[in-house]
Amino acid sequence: MDISIKIKDTVFANPILLASGTFGYGSDFVSVINQVGGFITKGITLAPRIGNPAPRIYELPGAILNSVGLENPGALDFRNKILPRLNFSTPLIVNIAGFDTADFSTIVKILDCDRIAGFEINISCPNVKTGGAIFGQDPKLTEQIVTEVRRATKKLVITKLTANFIDPVNTAQAAESAGTDAISLINTLYGLAIDLKEQKYFLGGKTGGLSGPAIKPFALFCVERVSKAIKIPVIGGGGIVNATDVCEFMLAGASLVQIGSLNLINPFAAFDILKDLKKYMKIYKIKAIRQIIGKVRSNDDKNNTCG
Ligand code: SIN
Repeated sequence: MDISIKIKDTVFANPILLASGTFGYGSDFVSVINQVGGFITKGITLAPRIGNPAPRIYELPGAILNSVGLENPGALDFRNKILPRLNFSTPLIVNIAGFDTADFSTIVKILDCDRIAGFEINISCPNVKTGGAIFGQDPKLTEQIVTEVRRATKKLVITKLTANFIDPVNTAQAAESAGTDAISLINTLYGLAIDLKEQKYFLGGKTGGLSGPAIKPFALFCVERVSKAIKIPVIGGGGIVNATDVCEFMLAGASLVQIGSLNLINPFAAFDILKDLKKYMKIYKIKAIRQIIGKVRSNDDKNNTCG
């Protein structure tokens, strides 16, 4: 059975990607990283950032609210100190974030090298006062940022969109016309937690980004909607916890998926997901996983099978 997926020149051995921010920069858990289709780093900004004050995580049933605030060592330290030490063979995708539209292409020019398979443009972080989701809520800014990154690299360019207070179809189409190779969505949803005892905001950064199984139906909705509106591949994510979820996202139109919050609970979860994905393919006689992409059937369609 064939579980590989190719996007542009990059072959992903399987459709599972480790989402940005859930596995650091790739120095640890190399045995896990080597088994998945692709690895995406924590967001890298031009200058180093200390991120938001603690507490940064709020747990609730079926979801996690995070407010990390893009803590990272900055592009130069990532290139000089971290990148040379990464020794996994899985395609490495660097998530890049900016506070000025020019930051994104500047970071790409600093980092572009053979070791990196591609870049994920992060215009969807909900935890920063400038940039992040504010850029990703505007199709014109989205187009400008993607155009500049496209000019700066020939490598795989993925644009990670927000679904907060906008229709991601508009920004997906803007990113597609500017030359992105794929769209990833959704990033976390705006959320707020209040400490009742203290009667104050729970998170140090006040607001956070909601992820986990609670957001899965909305993420699936967005993946299906966006994948029907564009021609380039969609990378889906939002609350995936097992192989069934992976297949649902692929049926809805995702070519690859990202596992995020689950990694924080069980860093080895990808092993079980991959094992179960193969079982699912055997049961449903699916020879190549790419055959199910976008093949969700209408309720009145009796003939169409996904295998
Ligand atoms: C964060 O660092 O606050 C999260 C990053 C993101 O949501 O893109």
